[in-house]
Amino acid sequence: MEFDFVILEEAESTNAEAIKLAKLTNRPTFVIAKKQTNGRGRFDRRWAAPSGNFSGSILIKIDEDLQSLALRSFVTALSVFDAIGQNIGGEHELTIKWPNDILLNGKKICGILLETKILDNITALVIGIGVNLLSAPNLAEDHRVTTEPSSILDETNINLDPIDLSKSIAHHFSLRENQFRTLGFSKIREIWTERAAKIGKEILVCTPNFEYHGIFDSIDEKGQLIILNNGEKNKIAAAEIFF
Ligand code: BTN
Repeated sequence: MEFDFVILEEAESTNAEAIKLAKLTNRPTFVIAKKQTNGRGRFDRRWAAPSGNFSGSILIKIDEDLQSLALRSFVTALSVFDAIGQNIGGEHELTIKWPNDILLNGKKICGILLETKILDNITALVIGIGVNLLSAPNLAEDHRVTTEPSSILDETNINLDPIDLSKSIAHHFSLRENQFRTLGFSKIREIWTERAAKIGKEILVCTPNFEYHGIFDSIDEKGQLIILNNGEKNKIAAAEIFF
């Protein structure tokens, strides 16, 4: 997959820019903003991107149902994991927190937000990627912090360039997307599981209606989290995980 790159000096949200661009291009495009002023996060939260951090969104048009599009959450998490791992070297503890946060030494350094836009005959998928390269944001105090944030610089003393990182993410995304298309989700799921944080360990999962305490068992073929508690198995499609 060959990407066009659009590099903006400043944007409110690269996801919003990519959604606008979806009407104008059919080519896979990576929109990067050197400064993002109003980033969107999961669960309708804001994503603060202090300057020097990475804010970028992949735009691709794919003729698939929403459930299959949603699996790009795992494809992207692996791609960003690969790109960061290659850039910082293997001696650092990099893991993925379900479904798609990247943790470094157990702290969140990357968040990913998928959005879709239905066009005339195809769906545009926008995959927003925020990486704390230089600093972690000060978190708003209006919600419980699920995982302590940090930055790649704080954890490793390595200063990554956002544009170089976008090239690396695009490269790894192309490889993983190809793997997904040829071998299906089972291969992605297998590799994702090897990289996942807290498999087999105690976690707290919060959905709007319920809290589950239990052992993080695995993910299923739809990417749902499977949690075990007293022999009971629950499958969770979307939730916040505390650890
Ligand atoms: C999360 O809440 O963990 C996901 C955060 C995703 C943030 C990125 S930054 C680039 C892209 N543009 C946005 O507005 N959000 C995503």
